[in-house]
Amino acid sequence: MFIFETIILNITTIKIIEVNMSIQATAAKLLFKLPKPILSKIMKSIPKSNNPHYLVEKPWHLKGNWAPVKDEIIVENLEIKGEIPKEINGMYLRNGMNPVSGHSDHWFFGNGMLHGVNISDGKASYMNKYVRTPYFDEDMGMMESSFDLKASPANTHVIRHAGKILTLEEAHLPWIVNENLDTIDSYDFDGKLDGPMTAHPRVCPETGELLFFGYQMMKKPYLTYHRVSKEGVLVQSEEIDIPRPVMMHDWNITRNYVVFMDLPLVFDINDAVSGSDPFGFKPECGARLGVMPRNGSNSDIKWIDINPCFVFHPMNAYEEDDKIILHVCRQNKAMVGGMDEIYGGEDSTGKLWKWTIDLTSGICSEEQIDDRPCDFARIDDRLVGLKAKNGYAMALDEKAETLTFDQYLYKFDLENNKRIDHDLGNNVFGGEPIFVPKFDNSSENDGWVMAIVYDANISKSKLIIVDTENFDKKPISEIILPQRVPFGAHGSWLSN
Ligand SMILES: [Fe+2]
Repeated sequence: MFIFETIILNITTIKIIEVNMSIQATAAKLLFKLPKPILSKIMKSIPKSNNPHYLVEKPWHLKGNWAPVKDEIIVENLEIKGEIPKEINGMYLRNGMNPVSGHSDHWFFGNGMLHGVNISDGKASYMNKYVRTPYFDEDMGMMESSFDLKASPANTHVIRHAGKILTLEEAHLPWIVNENLDTIDSYDFDGKLDGPMTAHPRVCPETGELLFFGYQMMKKPYLTYHRVSKEGVLVQSEEIDIPRPVMMHDWNITRNYVVFMDLPLVFDINDAVSGSDPFGFKPECGARLGVMPRNGSNSDIKWIDINPCFVFHPMNAYEEDDKIILHVCRQNKAMVGGMDEIYGGEDSTGKLWKWTIDLTSGICSEEQIDDRPCDFARIDDRLVGLKAKNGYAMALDEKAETLTFDQYLYKFDLENNKRIDHDLGNNVFGGEPIFVPKFDNSSENDGWVMAIVYDANISKSKLIIVDTENFDKKPISEIILPQRVPFGAHGSWLSN
């Protein structure tokens, strides 16, 4: 994920030119124009880590339960506490960073490892496998992988659409895996996708379409929108004008619109080449939401100013009359202390906010609706882009110096701005909560929330199953996983 920061950090080690920043930037741009084989050779000659600090002390993302696991295993008949409801049949599948060498320069750069828990007839089994892309096969650094759309870490999310399971990262193409988690191939939608794909596409529950965007830093278009039919055919791609390259990790859809978030976490090649952090939070650049009809184009976008902020993950968005309502995990700032400070501190940790866009007036009102630090927000996937009452998020510890998952999962009543806490217990750390409906046609109140959590008291990871209507009660079942699952990113419930 976030490829360009490492590209640039490494460019500084090449010492192309040390005269002034503008010349460096020009040199860097020229470097990127070299023929790919030559560029690859140069990149491979660069040490993966140029940070001597890492050589003497492990960074936070390689310690404790962030540390990678070595073994790929398959284990049947897992230990279960409580009882798994017989209606639960499918696979809980989660992606996350797990550097194959044991080292990565940044949390974002580890190789994607999938952790799957298959559940049927009240029993559970576990398997974990790397996503075997060229990034894995050649143990690449992000620098090398930057010039090959197929060389994805594939480490951020995993979804299913049109019968394909896609592993995702935001600077490359998706990669297909099968139900045994074996890697099949990269996927460019039959040659129609020639740029990166976000790790946060949305599947419309009404049309079955897959909607997504791609963003890039080094050249225009900085942003591109794509629409894929229910059958998996890429039917529309639109270049979107934004004034400068920004980190755009996630976005929003509604029944008729998509909403881009042009937020001021800005990429600056001059900063990057000079050895500073390539991304800077620059509130002076302003912040905007771009509302575009789902089959519209750049000229149809209505850009609406909001107060400068950053959002890694929205919870959901929907339309009501001539308004669009969004719930987002909003941070006042982002990465102010540098790339390693993904979260940390009150200002840089998300809280749940409600944005109401009035499409007639073009004004967005902003309201904080909860003060608990949280992120990795989700809803019932069958209500994405529609009005959902229940939202879920994982607690973060905003007092910690680095990204730290906390001991709560939260359920939000989005109609009444209320929160219910699920306390995982002391020394138990959360994961992204995913809703699993009881039946295909049951309501969002009838089902379970699943999450892989880490219980430091017993040094084990568990898949917990919490009844959504008894969210503050103990899990109805806990599946003890046969090996530790490092803290990771996003996942999906794939029903059978
Ligand atoms: Fe994400």
